[in-house]
Amino acid sequence: MSLLSPALRFDFPALDQHVGGKPLVYLDNGATTQKPRSVIDALARFYERNNSNVHRGLHALSMRATDGFEAARARAAKFINAADSAEIVFTRGTTESVNLVAQSWGSANLRPGDIVLITEMEHHSNLVPWQQITRQTGATLKYVPVAGADAEHGLDLDALEKLLTPQVKLFAFTHLSNTLGILNDAARLCAKARAVGALTLIDAAQSIGHEPIDVQAIGCDFLAYSGHKMAGPTGIGVLYGKRALLDDMPPYQTGGGMISTVDWFESKWKPAPERFEAGTPNVADAIALHAAFDYLDGIGRPAISDHDHALAAQACTALSELPGIRILGPKTGKPRAGLVSFAFAAAHAHDIVTFADQDGIALRGGHHCNQPLMKKLGLPSTTRASFYVYNTPEEIAVLAASLRKILKFFA
Ligand code: ALA
Repeated sequence: MSLLSPALRFDFPALDQHVGGKPLVYLDNGATTQKPRSVIDALARFYERNNSNVHRGLHALSMRATDGFEAARARAAKFINAADSAEIVFTRGTTESVNLVAQSWGSANLRPGDIVLITEMEHHSNLVPWQQITRQTGATLKYVPVAGADAEHGLDLDALEKLLTPQVKLFAFTHLSNTLGILNDAARLCAKARAVGALTLIDAAQSIGHEPIDVQAIGCDFLAYSGHKMAGPTGIGVLYGKRALLDDMPPYQTGGGMISTVDWFESKWKPAPERFEAGTPNVADAIALHAAFDYLDGIGRPAISDHDHALAAQACTALSELPGIRILGPKTGKPRAGLVSFAFAAAHAHDIVTFADQDGIALRGGHHCNQPLMKKLGLPSTTRASFYVYNTPEEIAVLAASLRKILKFFA
C-alpha cells in the first residue's frame, strides 16, 4: 500500500491555517471533507458568470446553467459506471436519497408480511427511514447482526444467510461503516440478496470518495451518497437507481419541473430523473460536484483507497499502544477503510475531542448517528479519526502524542 504525495494538501485552502496556535490536523473527514480549490472555483464561477435557473429559460445563461447541470449528471453516472445518466437523481445528500427510496418505492411496494432487511452497523440515515416506512406499510424491519465484542468480525454472514428469505423485499446496507471502519463486500452482499429476489440499496456516504465504485459490477439496485464527503459541496447528493425501477416509482415530492402535464384535478409525471427533482434543483452545487469528480479521478480512486487504508493501518498500530484503548472494528487482516473509532474507560470522547482541538486536531466524538450499535457494544460514545487524501503519517504521530498527553491528564 502506498501513500499519496503530501503536496496534495496545498490544493485545499482550508488546511492552511492554525488552530489553537498549532497547524490544523484535520481528521474529521468522515463528517465532511475539505474542498479543493478547483471545486471552490467552480462554485464561484457559476455564480459569477452562469447563474440562472435550469430547464426553463431559452436565454444564454439559462442554457449554460442547464448544460452545466446535465453535464454534472452525466459525469455522476460515469463516476460510478451507471449505464445511463437518467439513473442519476440529484438530491440534498444521502439522507434524502434513502428517504426518497423508502417513501417512494416503499409506499408502492411494501405490504404486511414483507421484510426490509438492514444491518446493525447502519447510520441513522439508513435506519430511521426504514423504521418509518415499515411502520406505515405494516412490513417488518429486521437486522443483520454484527459479530464480536468490538464488532471486529463485521457482519455475521451466517445470520445473513438465515435472514435472507423470499419475504425480504429490500436489503439496505452501508458500504463502509462510519463508526467501525469496516468495508463491506458490496458485490457479495448484493448477489446474496438477488438470490432471494430482494432489491438492494447501498449507503455509500463514507465510501464514495474513497473507494472505486462500479454499480454495474456491484449489481446494486440503488446507491446513495453525499457530495460533501467526497471533496464536493454540501447540500448536493445523488441517488442512483436502475432506470426501470425509478420509472416505476411514484414521485417523492411534487411541484414544478417534475410534471409533464397539469390539469385542475390531475397531473402526469415526467420520467426519471426529473420526476424526483421537484422545484429548482441545486444547480450550483451539482456543477461544483462535477469538479470534485474530476479532482478525485485526477488522483485515481485506487490510489486514494490505498492511501486511506495505509493511514488507517498506521493509526491502528500507533493507537493500540495507548493504555486502556478499545478500538472498534477489525484490528488486522480484515478490510479496514480509512477511519478508526476508539474509546477509553478513563475519558469521555467529548473531553478527548475538546482537548485534541487545543492541539489543532479535528476529531469527532459521540455516537456517530449509530445509537443502537453503541448500545449493543456497551459504549456511550467513541472518538473517531477519519482520513483523506491530504492526511499524512506525521499527522497520525501528532494524534498519538496528543492522545497520550490527554490520557495522562485523566489518569
Ligand atoms: N455521517 C457523518 C459522520 O459519520 C456526519 O460523521
